[in-house]
Amino acid sequence: MTAGLFVTFEGIDGSGKSTQARRLAEHLRAQGREVVLTREPGGSPGAEEIRALVLEGDPDRWSAETEILLFTAARRDHLERTILPALAAGKVVICDRFADSTRVYQGVSRGDLRGMVDKLHSLMIGREPDLTVLIDMDPDTGHARALSRRGHEERFEDFGPDLQRRMRAAFLGLAQEFPARFRVVDGGRDIEAVARDVAEVVERAL
Ligand code: ADP
Ligand code: TYD
Repeated sequence: MTAGLFVTFEGIDGSGKSTQARRLAEHLRAQGREVVLTREPGGSPGAEEIRALVLEGDPDRWSAETEILLFTAARRDHLERTILPALAAGKVVICDRFADSTRVYQGVSRGDLRGMVDKLHSLMIGREPDLTVLIDMDPDTGHARALSRRGHEERFEDFGPDLQRRMRAAFLGLAQEFPARFRVVDGGRDIEAVARDVAEVVERAL
């Protein structure tokens, strides 16, 4: 049995990750590949329950440390029940956000907790994607897009322009830190143009 490919999409809110993850899944399925399209936080029944705990309600509901534990608990369940079985069956797993989001959001937004995030990751997750597509985008445009589809999951959507800029820089920093698996795609173009670049980098990896 062939080993699958684990592809993640990363980027700031509203950068077009979900749109591009969906497009890529359709593109690869049209080529006859078996694809599992999933997301974080969530992607398994237990992790979706944790998603509701972590994304809904009062912004001060959890301390930064508790939040890291919740995202990691959700990821562990998602990995055990959805991602690893699909990869073992030779499927392409496309995941909208993964551990790099924790490195950026929990590592940067509420104090410098990157060290804690990394320790917990190596203890409980220990798996990196084969390929990470970073949809890079100007935070003002991303914020406008994210606001246009605002729902009840708002705990993280009010970061403000300064923090969004730091998040963008942190994602670009990760791309430099892990150049073997990161590919940076310019998200500030129309959906088709971005999708073409994404398809190209993923096909090269396949
Ligand atoms: P993310 O998952 O990164 O938050 P989404 O894929 O949900 O981003 O996109 C946010 C919003 O912007 C959606 O309404 C989507 O239709 C729109 N959108 C996505 N990509 C583009 C693009 N390249 N140009 C214009 N609008 C886009
Ligand atoms: P998501 O649904 O992907 O939001 P969006 O479509 O706006 O990009 O993710 C929800 C929020 O959760 C998002 O603001 C980022 C945050 N998040 C973290 O803070 N840490 C994490 O580890 C993950 C996976 C997401």
